[in-house]
Amino acid sequence: MSTLHYGLEDKVAVVTGGSRGIGLEIARELIAQKARVVICGRKIETLSAAAEDLGCSEVMTVQAHIAKEADVENLFKTVMDTFGRVDVLINNVGMNLMTPFVADTEFSLWQKIIDTNLSGTFLCSRWASRIMREQQKGGRIVNVSSIAGRKASPGMGIYGVAKAGIEMLTKVLASELAGFNIQVNAVAPSMVRTEFSQPFWSNKDIYEQIVRSIPLGRIAEPMDVVHPVLFLASDAAGFITGQTLVVDGGATAI
Ligand SMILES: NC(=O)c1ccc[n+]([C@@H]2O[C@H](COP(=O)([O-])OP(=O)(O)OC[C@H]3O[C@@H](n4cnc5c(N)ncnc54)[C@H](OP(=O)(O)O)[C@@H]3O)[C@@H](O)[C@H]2O)c1
Repeated sequence: MSTLHYGLEDKVAVVTGGSRGIGLEIARELIAQKARVVICGRKIETLSAAAEDLGCSEVMTVQAHIAKEADVENLFKTVMDTFGRVDVLINNVGMNLMTPFVADTEFSLWQKIIDTNLSGTFLCSRWASRIMREQQKGGRIVNVSSIAGRKASPGMGIYGVAKAGIEMLTKVLASELAGFNIQVNAVAPSMVRTEFSQPFWSNKDIYEQIVRSIPLGRIAEPMDVVHPVLFLASDAAGFITGQTLVVDGGATAI
């Protein structure tokens, strides 16, 4: 358990894509901080496994595809029925399907990648911010972007466009919602050791090539992302909004 303290006790925190990878570790740390945690994902069996892993009584699970309006509505209505508020939203869901040449990509694939990464972040932020605007203490939204949104990366073109969109959405929402005491920030990690990026880090040659471009000499572990996310959700980040914190071991500094 972490010895860091973020002052998130009793806060109601929704983590999208909290059933595995970075989202699961964000949920675990939020629970350790005594927040009331809701996770969502598409697959019920993955959500159930996550709930068992986290301790079923500690977490609420809701099956939801975040790019489907009705699912997102159901997610936030369920949270409101149970807790009556939303203090923190972590827009963590992301996916990529390799697109070797964006200019030749089928429109349906473009839509799928933009929908899940960008439109899903919009839909969840819309619901959460409507709720947060009615609350005296406002709220916090933290989006999970990627350094792929800042630099064209092979096979990640559409994903990068979506992540760049998330960073702009972060600025737009931050400026619009500041007057309601709602802060919106993002983190942009480089490669993190999860299922999402396994084809890269599990290949020794590719791994070594990637690590050569990272001054700290390794790829990120999920906890390297968890702490920046919780910092941005905490009072310690009380004067930060509209920003994207790059979490990349120095990769984009060189
Ligand atoms: N891993 C990396 O190298 C890396 C690097 C930079 C940024 N990121 C970003 O970090 C975030 C988390 O990545 P990760 O590596 O932890 O991914 P992951 O291991 O693939 O986990 C993704 C999570 O999102 C859920 N999910 C996927 N599509 C969904 C949808 N349409 N609706 C609801 N839930 C959905 C998954 O559950 P279901 O499949 O059951 O829906 C799962 O819980 C993403 O935004 C990703 O872009 C990752």
